[in-house]
Amino acid sequence: MDKKTFYITTPIYYPSDKLHIGHAYCTVATDAMARYKRLTGCEVMFLTGTDEHGQKIEDKAKAAGVTPQQFVDNIVTGERGILDLWKLMNISNDRFIRTTDDYHVRAIQRIFRRMYDNGDIYKGKYVGKYCKPCESFWTESQLKDGKCPDCGGDVYDAEEEAYFFRASKYAQRVRDLLTGTDFLQPASRVNEMVNNFIDCEGGLQDLCVSRTSFQWGIPVDFDSKHVVYVWLDALFNYMTALGFENDKYDDLDKFWPADVHFVGKEIVRFHAIYWPAFLMSLDLPLPKHVYGHGWLVMDGGKMSKSKGNVVDPYILAERFGVDALRFFLLRTFPFGSDGNFSNELLISTINVDLANDLGNLVSRSTAMVEKYFGGALPKTGVSESVDDELIAMVKALRGRYETQMEKFQFQNGLDEVFKVIARANKYIDETAPWVLAKDEAKKDRLAAVLYNLLETVRVCAVLLTPFMPESVEKIFAQIGATACERTWESAEVFGALHDGVTVTKGEAIFPRIDAAAELAELEKLEKAAKNGGKPAVELEPYAAESVDFDTFCKSDFRAVKVKACEAVKKSDKLLRFTLDDGSGTDRQILSGIHKFYEPETLVGKTLLAIINLPPRKMMGLESCGMLISAIHHENGEEKLNLIMLDDNIPAGAKMC
Ligand code: MSP
Repeated sequence: MDKKTFYITTPIYYPSDKLHIGHAYCTVATDAMARYKRLTGCEVMFLTGTDEHGQKIEDKAKAAGVTPQQFVDNIVTGERGILDLWKLMNISNDRFIRTTDDYHVRAIQRIFRRMYDNGDIYKGKYVGKYCKPCESFWTESQLKDGKCPDCGGDVYDAEEEAYFFRASKYAQRVRDLLTGTDFLQPASRVNEMVNNFIDCEGGLQDLCVSRTSFQWGIPVDFDSKHVVYVWLDALFNYMTALGFENDKYDDLDKFWPADVHFVGKEIVRFHAIYWPAFLMSLDLPLPKHVYGHGWLVMDGGKMSKSKGNVVDPYILAERFGVDALRFFLLRTFPFGSDGNFSNELLISTINVDLANDLGNLVSRSTAMVEKYFGGALPKTGVSESVDDELIAMVKALRGRYETQMEKFQFQNGLDEVFKVIARANKYIDETAPWVLAKDEAKKDRLAAVLYNLLETVRVCAVLLTPFMPESVEKIFAQIGATACERTWESAEVFGALHDGVTVTKGEAIFPRIDAAAELAELEKLEKAAKNGGKPAVELEPYAAESVDFDTFCKSDFRAVKVKACEAVKKSDKLLRFTLDDGSGTDRQILSGIHKFYEPETLVGKTLLAIINLPPRKMMGLESCGMLISAIHHENGEEKLNLIMLDDNIPAGAKMC
């Protein structure tokens, strides 16, 4: 029998900037779903990619002084770019599409022409408002307080000759699709779509599907002044990547229609209204589902580069491990709603679920098998009623998990697994294996208790495979599970683990994190990342000892000219400056900066000094004041620069 197929997609990402944890969230969710479907035996096509055309990219490339193609190539294929990120996050996509790929470009030109030929695309004139970052046209009534309803940014008056798609013609069919089927999920998103875009004043408007105001797009091949609207170009990626209107691939019959498109809530509109309408125009089958997931937010607002509140997935994955990060994203936030990201939450999830609950269960169980049975556990089957609840829960687990996974409720699926893990930890306390171990007559019972624990670990690990693929491999290795004891089928059976299984207690799979120290370190790293890779500067807090204004005014800062400068004998550090401070009498200042300057290089310079500090003796010489310098650190090393003033400033000029 042919395998069941499953086709799942992420949105294709704009390579206008480095991706952040919000983008990773969507891709990780899609990956978990793809891996889950593979585990259950489906033949999966998992597609992701990049949406590379549009004005924003054109503008950014221009600002960077490169061509748009060079710009996107760098973000997609460059070091720590999008491809690297997905590799790091262990994303198992089967295909990666770039909308600048030749086969896609040509396919879009054919698609546009087909819609023009069938009368669904016509030439007209656009008058309205335009939002640049969103590349969206809006009517006056769609604006929110005069701003773009998607991003809240400014919109501009726009008027241009353009091609339009007859979306209005499909309004009723799209409406029926949304209200009469489970096409759009979660169902809570349906009303918003219908009310705002179909049942609104004027009904569903025809969509402007070409642009003449910029060039970085796919040219309309019969009217080269126009480029195809980026959303028409982008949405069809889901089909061109399977071979629609091109011969690069030949998987349409096998995988189209898609089982589900995962998309963020702000782009549900394109996927739930225009995408089906485009497909209706070409008489093509519609995807089975569009799932609009929530956003990862910080302090209530969507992450965005412009707000400066983006979280770098590289930093988190490198510090906590990819699996812990993947797990956190799907364990913590309900997929359909927004979730407030914080490092505190990330660390506490790792500590509670992974280090404590799962990690302890694995390490206690394997340690006891090693201690009491030398690592080889016989299957004795000596049962007691205390086993019943745990075994019943494990047996029911796969079904309960499956119900949630089929609804894309990752958080609930994981919750089912972690309820069983918690129950198993309680079972250890109830059965007290260390007490059984004291009585040789209870050895078989002890073996059965430990077997029940390993079996629980095994079933949970199978079901955690889509979320933490590398860590479960380590768990399987520690409990000695063979290939056929790691399968979906085996997760329905309690007792699949073979007799005499060899257990090896390994390193802790999820070490506990010292939250306070880690948070401080993360803060530093994130600040440094925002600072373009330079370490963040630690500023003094405004403490109780802050200097009041009057005290500050008493400090006498003056421009001084270096008349002579020499190294102080027998000192590695000190330089002796003879300075003109404008008073007519030379001033001597000693400064411990020989490491940074050779004395002769400073003669003639105009420096800044505070001159009313009490005189101090150093190496038997008097220092009357202090030269002011700037200190910073580079690669852990202190750097010092004297503050040098413009030579036009006369000696003695007062700084205030
Ligand atoms: N290029 C379009 C999609 C075209 S699909 C045919 C696009 N790109 S995007 O890069 O701006 O966003 C891609 C996806 O990332 C969207 O689904 C968006 O919701 C998601 N996310 C961006 N920031 C996010 C969060 N902070 N949280 C969750 N998802 C986020 O839109």
